[in-house]
Formats: sequence, structure tokens, C-alpha cells
Amino acid sequence: MVSPPPLPRPPHTATDRGGGARARRARPGDVFALEGDLGTGKTALARAFVRALAGPDEDVPSPTFTLVQLYDADPGTIWHFDLYRLEKPEDALELGVEDAFAEGISLIEWPDRLGPWLPRDRLTVALSAGDADGSRHAVLTGGPDWARRLQTLGESLS
Ligand SMILES: Nc1ncnc2c1ncn2[C@@H]1O[C@H](COP(=O)(O)OP(=O)(O)OP(=O)(O)O)[C@@H](O)[C@H]1O
Ligand SMILES: [Mg+2]
Repeated sequence: MVSPPPLPRPPHTATDRGGGARARRARPGDVFALEGDLGTGKTALARAFVRALAGPDEDVPSPTFTLVQLYDADPGTIWHFDLYRLEKPEDALELGVEDAFAEGISLIEWPDRLGPWLPRDRLTVALSAGDADGSRHAVLTGGPDWARRLQTLGESLS
């Protein structure tokens, strides 16, 4: 018997679902550190997160050159950072990281660039390519508060 061809699937379904699920439970002051090599899907995850809160038609470009993009959203302004080109951690102050961490919801690509300015209380999402074409692994790490919050999402911390 010949099996039918696989159904076409929308791209990165789990990335979009995971980003959306985290977004809907986000609170002002939350910091999400999005780790992973070039092209592992940090911006794709941030895009799903922003669209879940700011609307599905929101344009979410990569902040490659602007380093930060802001979005009005209900629980708080979303600050999407891409710090790959940040020359030194102190330069992040000019981007408004203190306001972002105090009252915004922060999504940070290349969080290591922040050095000592990276908040300790954060959820780290480490992305890497999976074995199958187009698949991704996400490993979540965070403190006890995040472990409790993620239980309600049905996810566990590594
Ligand atoms: N499962 C998946 N999750 C996320 N992205 C995926 C997935 N499968 C394929 N992709 C593709 O991988 C690419 C990820 O690009 P993206 O810009 O999000 O990466 P990035 O980690 O932000 O890279 P950079 O370090 O350059 O900012 C996109 O072209 C996206 O369509
Ligand atoms: Mg990116």
C-alpha cells in the first residue's frame, strides 16, 4: 500500500505556539533571554510573542540595525532587542534597558552582550536546530518563580 503524501504544515508551528503561550502569560518586568546561534529562530519566536499580544498583523522586523523595537501591548510595552551589534554592555543604557526591565516586557536576542546588565531574574530560552529539517529545540531555564509559572503552561524547566 502506498501511503499518502504528508500534509503541508505551516512553518515552525511549535515555535509560534510556544511564543504565543508565553506571551499570553507575560507580566510587566518579565525578561526573556533568547539564546541561540545565528538563524536558530530567536526573531521568529519574538515575532510570535509580539503578535500574540499586539495583534496578528503586527509587522515585527528583526531589530538587527535599530537594536530595539517597541510594541504597545496590553500588559505592558514589549521591548524587542537584538544586541548582536552592541559594542559594550554600557551602550545598552542608551537603548532604555532600565525602563524596559522595570516596567516593560523584554525579549532579548544575544543577551550575553549585556554582561552585568542582564537581569538575574529571567527566563532563558536556548534555541538550537533539531535533527529534522526546520525543527528546533528550546531549552528553558529560570529560577524557582519561573518554574512555578511554567507549570501552568505545562512545560518544565531543564
Ligand atoms: N521551527 C522553526 N522555528 C523557528 N524558525 C524556523 C523554524 N524552522 C525554520 N525556521 C526558519 O529559520 C529562520 C530563523 O530566523 P530568525 O531570524 O528567527 O533567526 P535568529 O535566531 O533571530 O537569527 P539572528 O541570530 O540572525 O538574529 C527563519 O527563516 C525561519 O523561517
Ligand atoms: Mg534575530
